[in-house]
Amino acid sequence: MQIKSAEFVMSNSDVAKCPKDRMPEYAFIGRSNVGKSSLINMLMLRKSLAKTSGRPGKTQLINHFLINKNWYLVDLPGYGYARVSKSSKKVFQKFITNYFEKREQMVLAFVLVDCRHEPQPIDMEFMQWMGESGVPFNIIFTKADKLKPKVLERSIQVYSEKMLETWEEMPPYFITSASDSSGRDEVLNYIEELNNTIQTSEF
Ligand code: GTP
Ligand code: MG
Repeated sequence: MQIKSAEFVMSNSDVAKCPKDRMPEYAFIGRSNVGKSSLINMLMLRKSLAKTSGRPGKTQLINHFLINKNWYLVDLPGYGYARVSKSSKKVFQKFITNYFEKREQMVLAFVLVDCRHEPQPIDMEFMQWMGESGVPFNIIFTKADKLKPKVLERSIQVYSEKMLETWEEMPPYFITSASDSSGRDEVLNYIEELNNTIQTSEF
């Protein structure tokens, strides 16, 4: 897919106020600092369409971007970042779960995980929650430039094995780097394919 235009539309914390026009929408979610905003900028060939930061918690709202005037890309706040008591494991902000439960236009969520890390309980819980809530998702392994190919391959194998403890199959996944743009064509072409298969009448 060629990116002809990418415009920021709005930010808010209320799913009811998200854009009303029905266009296919793809959400990017994951732990804080996993590289959601960086990936969005890489996909869109823009330096700072989505705001990035070395400090976790930069993205605090639901951010809608209109791409090629016919689909939305959504940058969501990271979950799992909140100074909470250590007994409180789940930190999925209510407006994030509301977004996934109510946003009918949402075609697919990309759950981002840092390829360097072992499977994290919060990601497992979030994907579990998505599965139970009927939210379709794929996985994107980010920051692939940080690992040598063999180590990367092993890391993804470990991740898949962990997923298969609770899932019947590994969801489709992509491997990306915002630094060297790897995985860009794969993610964009996949979105394009989905957009093509969606009948306008569904929306
Ligand atoms: P929040 O909005 O805070 O939840 O974070 P986020 O998931 O949007 O992460 P963000 O894109 O702001 O990136 C976090 C940090 O990781 C920044 O310092 C980025 O430069 C760095 N980073 C993101 N993607 C990559 C990547 O592919 N490779 C490398 N080497 N660094 C990356
Ligand atoms: Mg962000």
